[in-house]
Amino acid sequence: MKGIILAGGTGSRLHPLTKVTNKHLLPVGSVPMIYHPIQALVNAGIEEIMIVTGGNSAGDFLRLLGNGKDFGLKHLDYTFQEGEGGIAAALRLAEHFSEHQRIVVILGDNIIEGSIRDAVDRFRNQPEGGRILLKEVPDPERFGCPVFDGDRIVRIEEKPENPASSFAVTGIYMYDNKVWDIISTLVPSGRGELEITDVNNAYIEAGTLHHDLLEGWWTDAGTFPSLLRANLLAGMKEGMTEELDLPSILPTPTSD
Ligand code: DAU
Repeated sequence: MKGIILAGGTGSRLHPLTKVTNKHLLPVGSVPMIYHPIQALVNAGIEEIMIVTGGNSAGDFLRLLGNGKDFGLKHLDYTFQEGEGGIAAALRLAEHFSEHQRIVVILGDNIIEGSIRDAVDRFRNQPEGGRILLKEVPDPERFGCPVFDGDRIVRIEEKPENPASSFAVTGIYMYDNKVWDIISTLVPSGRGELEITDVNNAYIEAGTLHHDLLEGWWTDAGTFPSLLRANLLAGMKEGMTEELDLPSILPTPTSD
């Protein structure tokens, strides 16, 4: 099983923070954002990893990560995405790396508290298809959102105005080698991107998309509020917030 981390795109929602560096190199807790998805894959037992990068400062990934020694890895693979063609377009660049084995994909701005090892093991044991991880969130309209019929997902809607459920499809995706044929049939969405939600919907139509609920907290980090949230959660996990004594440093709201 191979791991692919998607860290392309321009990070335009975080300007000016991402004007001179790449979003995935910004700090989350005590490490650069990209450390979190790498560690998540390594913790799940995946040691062959490709990072798809792009945009600003792509070369800094090499200087930062090298061959992944900090994670106990012997080697890391890299490739470069021109522009911002979408998550599925970034994934397509990793086809040769996959050697048509099964893959676990994680978005470079997704940060998790726990482990995906059990889900990855379940994926290993399923005969074919894909597997996604869901998380209940207060703002499903910001994400891919599943529509259920009982326990079954009948489709996923990308950033729906009126979400059909309170779940987000997290940026952790597991696919068999049919994913490459599916990507080759995609057409750009309204926002001009090849959408990963269209890939997942193709698996749903084939009746081969499974899902699990992700345990522990999960957040993305691609907007200012979510980047702050990611830092608070990662900082909490590392024990930083205790040292800070948050309640005592935050000003009490004044009433007028
Ligand atoms: O975080 C989970 C959500 O990620 C899912 O629920 C959505 O279904 C999915 O579309 C995606 O939504 P976002 O709009 O938040 O994705 P964003 O454009 O912020 O990209 C997330 C990561 O994907 C980014 O950190 C790097 C990678 N990416 C994105 C684009 C557009 C690429 O590598 N290349 C790209 O062209």
